[in-house]
Amino acid sequence: MEYKRLTLMYTAALKQLETKIEIINNEFKTLHKYNPIEHVSSRIKSKQSINNKLKKKGLEPTYENLVKTINDVAGIRIICSFIPDIYKLVEMLENMQDITVIKKKDYVAKPKESGYSSYHLIVSVPVSLSIGTVGVKVEIQIRTMAMDFWASLEHKIKYKYEKEIPKGVRKELKECAKMTQKLDRRMSHLGRNLMEEEKQIIKEITTEYSTVYAGLMLSDKIEMQSI
Ligand code: GTP
Ligand code: MG
Repeated sequence: MEYKRLTLMYTAALKQLETKIEIINNEFKTLHKYNPIEHVSSRIKSKQSINNKLKKKGLEPTYENLVKTINDVAGIRIICSFIPDIYKLVEMLENMQDITVIKKKDYVAKPKESGYSSYHLIVSVPVSLSIGTVGVKVEIQIRTMAMDFWASLEHKIKYKYEKEIPKGVRKELKECAKMTQKLDRRMSHLGRNLMEEEKQIIKEITTEYSTVYAGLMLSDKIEMQSI
């Protein structure tokens, strides 16, 4: 398996998705004076991690096995301010016409046994190559800053233990996760005024905005008809 050839598709898919997310964020910044995204990062899984993952599954390192069984070769992480922002973003991503949601996991409503919480989506993004258009899978993780804080540090702490994390450490990490969840809920509660204000602004501009859009779509139709 040639890593360079493989990452070409995944890099393209990430670029497409990052641009879409950036557009949404800019739109929010311009129109609503409030933006739900703190920051976005992306990564491509290393050749070694891909091979390790296939080996763990008992599979040969072939393109077919990889495309079929590994969903997180390309990954995007979106860090939001408040919990409702996560659901707002999920809804927006679901409504994007050329993106297909393959899988959804809501670890925000129901954290994992470890205490981990985030919203995960596996989506398929169309990538146009010289041979045609292919759907490329991307894993999207959406979480608040507090969730990110916990997940990053837990990952580092876990990494230190080669075999298994001691029971006591696991228990403490879980307690810390509960504390972060509490903090997140309190901050989101405080942030609700901000979000209420934003809802009001959206209401006010939606009419004007949709008129502009309707005009654009109408002129599109006229052009199409005249071809
Ligand atoms: P993989 O773990 O990637 O094989 O996929 P899965 O099918 O188990 O998916 P899941 O949605 O549970 O986890 C995918 C990703 O979420 C992981 O690769 C991590 O980045 C993150 N994640 C899941 N559980 C934890 C956790 O307990 N701690 C941390 N820090 N990250 C986690
Ligand atoms: Mg993973």
